[in-house]
Amino acid sequence: MPDDVLVVHGGTPLHGQIRVRGAKNLVSKAMVAALLGDEPSRLYDVPRIRDVEVVRGLLGVHGVKVTDGEEDGELVLDPANVERASTDEINVHAGSSRIPILFCGPLLHRLGHAFIPDLGGCHIGPRPIDFHIQALREFGAVVDKTPEGMHLTAPAGLHGTKFELPYPSVGATEQVLLTAVLANGVTELRNAAVEPEIIDLICVLQKMGAIITVHTDRVIEIEGVPRLGGYTHRPIPDRIEAASWAAAALATRGEIEVLGAQQVDMMTFLNVFRSIGGEYRVTDGLPARGVEGGIRFWHPGGELRAVALETDVHPGFMTDWQQPLVVALTQARGLSIVHETVYEQRLGYTEALNTMGATIQVYRDCLGGTPCRFGRRNFKHSAVIAGPSKLHAADLVIPDLRAGFSHLIAALAAEGTSRVYGVDLINRGYEDFESKLSALGAHVERP
Ligand code: EPZ
Repeated sequence: MPDDVLVVHGGTPLHGQIRVRGAKNLVSKAMVAALLGDEPSRLYDVPRIRDVEVVRGLLGVHGVKVTDGEEDGELVLDPANVERASTDEINVHAGSSRIPILFCGPLLHRLGHAFIPDLGGCHIGPRPIDFHIQALREFGAVVDKTPEGMHLTAPAGLHGTKFELPYPSVGATEQVLLTAVLANGVTELRNAAVEPEIIDLICVLQKMGAIITVHTDRVIEIEGVPRLGGYTHRPIPDRIEAASWAAAALATRGEIEVLGAQQVDMMTFLNVFRSIGGEYRVTDGLPARGVEGGIRFWHPGGELRAVALETDVHPGFMTDWQQPLVVALTQARGLSIVHETVYEQRLGYTEALNTMGATIQVYRDCLGGTPCRFGRRNFKHSAVIAGPSKLHAADLVIPDLRAGFSHLIAALAAEGTSRVYGVDLINRGYEDFESKLSALGAHVERP
């Protein structure tokens, strides 16, 4: 058992207000982008989370000076002295994240060499990097795989290319963007991911001097430029964290106002939230009067309704919204169906919910939606949730970031005292979650 444990006395509705800052899945990439410039960059609203520390450490060993700015959450990234790092130095910082793979293009441009260790990140399936490697080779990179990791060089420099992704991978799209902006010539990427975090990364790169066109039908065209400068950027808010708190409000029959949450990037989530029977109100901010906008989510009383949903790439229902929402679905009357089409093994956490009294069955078939690429293979990627179920306390071990948050919500919704082990993993993506829980009236304590 991990020794970081949170004791959760459940059964109390969460009530109150919390704030989300810049999206984890943009902030970390924007930090990598700073490596491409020849001037300092300034990033605001950076949350204090483990993934940011990982990238900060990796930038540091490559000579990028990262300092805290005047504003809380402001980072200044100065790439004036980019230098080669030793594999040992890289290994110290890279262990727990998948972000290092995105250093390939920028390091090849700046140093002509990159080393990428074995990747970490959440254990939610095999998570291959074949698209990344294929794309880098198309740009002219030479990839040498060794037992310790990958060494990359670009003997003839990197040049623009035409490349079609087999699946609209977020990371591989970012890889192409971060490599193509300084490559010689034009790059055309087909079947690209177009998540809001990617569009925000494109905004960052455009501020630095890149020329990027987002066409319809998932086609992105990048015209390579000889140099990039710095950027000043306030990132989009974290829509995964916002949805996680929304699900917590619903599962505990409470009410949470998520300051900073933005409707436009959460429309698909909001539709499902309303279909289940949750209520929300979007409040626009009044900056002139110092009033911050956000979304207030609440359980209106009565019973929740079952739904059928399918996770998908944007603009579909995000795979990272799935786990917290399933906890709320255990409280809905009827049979809900969740078809996970992004990751093949992202339903394992439902076993823990069953030990708490939920009734969730997982299937290999593509249930409730269109057949997906996992359908004819041996992956349990559809879940049927029968509700409502009374959840009771249990001892839980957190398997990964989003499943971890769903365990936490389940413990908060359950009657009795649960012990949640491995809870520090949640710090990878949720800033100050323990203080936020306390602010919302949760009864939690470290033993
Ligand atoms: C990003 O992961 C996010 N991580 C994930 O959030 C998120 O779940 C995912 O995008 C989908 O939205 C970060 O941004 C750091 P993908 P990424 O490449 O880029 C397959 C969280 O909790 N694939 O879009 O790694 C892959 O196996 C994390 O915040 C290949 O087959 O995801 C998966 O089935 C978890 N080969 C699918 O594509 C490749 O080379 C989508 O993965 C790359 C991906």
